[in-house]
Amino acid sequence: MAEKLHPVRGMKDLFNEDYTAHEYIISIAKSTSELYGFQGASVPILEHTGVFARTLGESSDVVSKEMYSFLDKSDDSLTMRPEFTAGIMRAFISGGMHHQLPMKLFSSGPLFRYDRPQAGRLRQFHQLNYEFLGADGVYSDAEMLMLAQHTFEALGIAGDLTLELNSLGCKESRVRYQTMLLEYFTEYENDLSEDSKRRLLKNPMRILDSKDENDKKIVATAPNIAASYSLDAHKYFDDLQNLLNIMNVYYKLNPQLVRGLDYYCHTAFEFTTDKLGAQSAIGGGGRYDGLSKIMGGPDMPAIGFALGIERIALMKHFTTTAKRPFVIVLIGDENLGHAALIAEELRAQNIPTTLEHKGKIARRMQNADKASARYVIFIGSDEVASEKYKVKDMDSGTESFMSSSEIIDLK
Ligand code: HAM
Repeated sequence: MAEKLHPVRGMKDLFNEDYTAHEYIISIAKSTSELYGFQGASVPILEHTGVFARTLGESSDVVSKEMYSFLDKSDDSLTMRPEFTAGIMRAFISGGMHHQLPMKLFSSGPLFRYDRPQAGRLRQFHQLNYEFLGADGVYSDAEMLMLAQHTFEALGIAGDLTLELNSLGCKESRVRYQTMLLEYFTEYENDLSEDSKRRLLKNPMRILDSKDENDKKIVATAPNIAASYSLDAHKYFDDLQNLLNIMNVYYKLNPQLVRGLDYYCHTAFEFTTDKLGAQSAIGGGGRYDGLSKIMGGPDMPAIGFALGIERIALMKHFTTTAKRPFVIVLIGDENLGHAALIAEELRAQNIPTTLEHKGKIARRMQNADKASARYVIFIGSDEVASEKYKVKDMDSGTESFMSSSEIIDLK
């Protein structure tokens, strides 16, 4: 193969500490989610394009420019999932799971967005994703935020994160707000960025999310979303804040937080940090009561959020305590079969074991060091004959002769 091999732009291989940190983050998140009654769920990476195109919003960045979509061999348009929520909802509806409500579902895995790669922004990235289907009432919103806080504490990053909170109101208040924004931004139409001019016609709320410096100035004096709330929407948001205050969940109100996807209503939130430069959002989510109905399912309340694993991994060094192995060093080249049997005996007792049998003895010892061996077990003809093996404790440096069952007792 003449061309130089490299991964696809924006996609990363995970090895060694990167892989271990990734797995560690997932395992902490999963076990914390279980404390709140979540169960694991997995949905396919590929969905029919409509699953995302019709739900995330045509004017969202994800649908308008970031989806990996293609025609398969039957000319069906498929898309590699850019997020979990729509796929989970599709699975819930097509699997006829209405009678299982309420459902709390935890997922993790790769997602794909064709964005400009930079630190903390990849084209293949991974999320921890939480969906609470049938989540009725303000306690479910508060519980999701508690779960997030608990997870950040368990990962040791809570101190560097801020919960930014907003309410997008109900469907009617949202329509009212769009009209208010349309009126306001139309006055400044000529000064808006090209992207925001386009958003003005399709979805003026999206302009609030603009990263353009000039747009930001115009956004600063835009009408406040609270002015459009219905009485119910107001009360819901007040009740949530009261509950969060009682539960000591610290939050910062951000009336301009609109989220990048269209299915949200009422509660919307993001977890931000100033540790990661431009990619300041570690995660986000909100309530999406209308999504099930839009997709042909029952009228059902729901709330969820997702956290970016790569961004969490950038926030601190995750050291994990992998079990140190026992390393068998074969002396000479005979007795490989005997050493292999001992290795299997240890593994059967859940002791991680490697067998060094290649190269010179010095090389075998070097490999044992590299593997951070806890004990090194030497096996040569004398040991095989006596069934007592020389064992070196690599921490204290002491050596002794032991039977295989005595070695097992060291674990
Ligand atoms: P989202 O805000 O699009 O929400 O993504 C959630 C998190 O995924 C982001 O805050 C970020 O940490 C991570 N993320 C997103 N794009 C990238 C990227 N290109 N590279 C690295 N990390 C990235 C959702 O996806 C919603 N589905 C969340 C949700 C669940 N809402 C309700 N339920």
